[in-house]
Amino acid sequence: MVGGVHLREILVIGAVGQIGTELVQTLRLRYGRDSVLAAGHVTKPTKDFLKSGPFVYLNVTDREQLAKLVVKENIDTVYHLASVLSAIGELNPQLCYEVNNIALYNVLEVARKHRLERVVWPSSIAVFGDGAPRIGTPNDTILQPKTMYGVTKVCGELLCIYYFQKYGVDTRSIRLPGIISSETKPGGGTTDYSVEMYYAAVKVRPYSCFVRENTVLPMMYMPDAIKALIDLAEADNSRLKHRVFNVNSMSFSASELAESIRKFVPSFTCEYKPDYRQAIADSWPASLDDSVARNEWNWNPVYDLSRMTDDMIEKLRRKLTRQQRY
Ligand SMILES: NC(=O)c1ccc[n+]([C@@H]2O[C@H](COP(=O)([O-])OP(=O)(O)OC[C@H]3O[C@@H](n4cnc5c(N)ncnc54)[C@H](O)[C@@H]3O)[C@@H](O)[C@H]2O)c1
Repeated sequence: MVGGVHLREILVIGAVGQIGTELVQTLRLRYGRDSVLAAGHVTKPTKDFLKSGPFVYLNVTDREQLAKLVVKENIDTVYHLASVLSAIGELNPQLCYEVNNIALYNVLEVARKHRLERVVWPSSIAVFGDGAPRIGTPNDTILQPKTMYGVTKVCGELLCIYYFQKYGVDTRSIRLPGIISSETKPGGGTTDYSVEMYYAAVKVRPYSCFVRENTVLPMMYMPDAIKALIDLAEADNSRLKHRVFNVNSMSFSASELAESIRKFVPSFTCEYKPDYRQAIADSWPASLDDSVARNEWNWNPVYDLSRMTDDMIEKLRRKLTRQQRY
């Protein structure tokens, strides 16, 4: 409370997920603990997360519940991260459609009606398909995804552009590649093998990888993903000619990842047993042209593969030691 006025600015929806967990902490350090309201769904947050600031439960497919929350809490900026990811989406396309499309529509409608200042929403490299160049995929190219997840992300991008052009809602979106992090485990995407490989290595266990060893995909370390979301949210609107941006960081094959891990864990072994997720990976780009993001809001990632592996192994080893102690 400041001068009797209840100040709250930012709502993070999907806050207990892989990206939300870390985004919330960074936003709280930047703008203050109480300025950031974290909204989770069914997953229970950890005690540390609850201690870090305000938390509510929200089903974002319920528009009335969302609208009430936005008004009651004085929200002006929404980071909307709630989603059903690619691999789970292919197992349950109907749920994927409902959560991804209806939730974003609800967020945009509430933003329009209550004149919110900004909506930040991650899209994905899943928007591309066979029609787009696989190497150096341009920002503006043909979008023909084969997965329901990709279909919902294309629809979401178009909705964000529509709401900006028709109603002036300030929507901003980045197409994230596979995100690697040591904090919260990934939520059922096609690039989850990269995180799983690190966990297996620090536990000194062999790993069975669900894509072929020569599968190359674009990836990003979590600190760069958080930086991208916040840099775009804070970018000067007059410089933005696009609402949706490719962001590139690093690309490597599954076997190159295993090799980089072996520099820290020489005994690490990995076998390759592709499953249904191989077809999804094969339809995605191997690398992206992100010159539009670099020009319009100075996007510039920090981590490469070896720096990321060094940091991941150190953080996961510390986490494992803490868990073994208790
Ligand atoms: N993690 C990645 O590798 C990656 C890559 C590209 C794009 N993205 C995008 O980034 C965003 C965040 O991804 P993430 O990895 O943190 O996902 P996640 O699956 O880890 O988290 C998503 C969260 O949304 C919540 N949720 C699901 N249904 C909900 C509902 N009806 N109401 C409210 N919350 C609900 C879930 O409980 C979960 O905590 C998503 O839009 C995703 O598509 C992620």
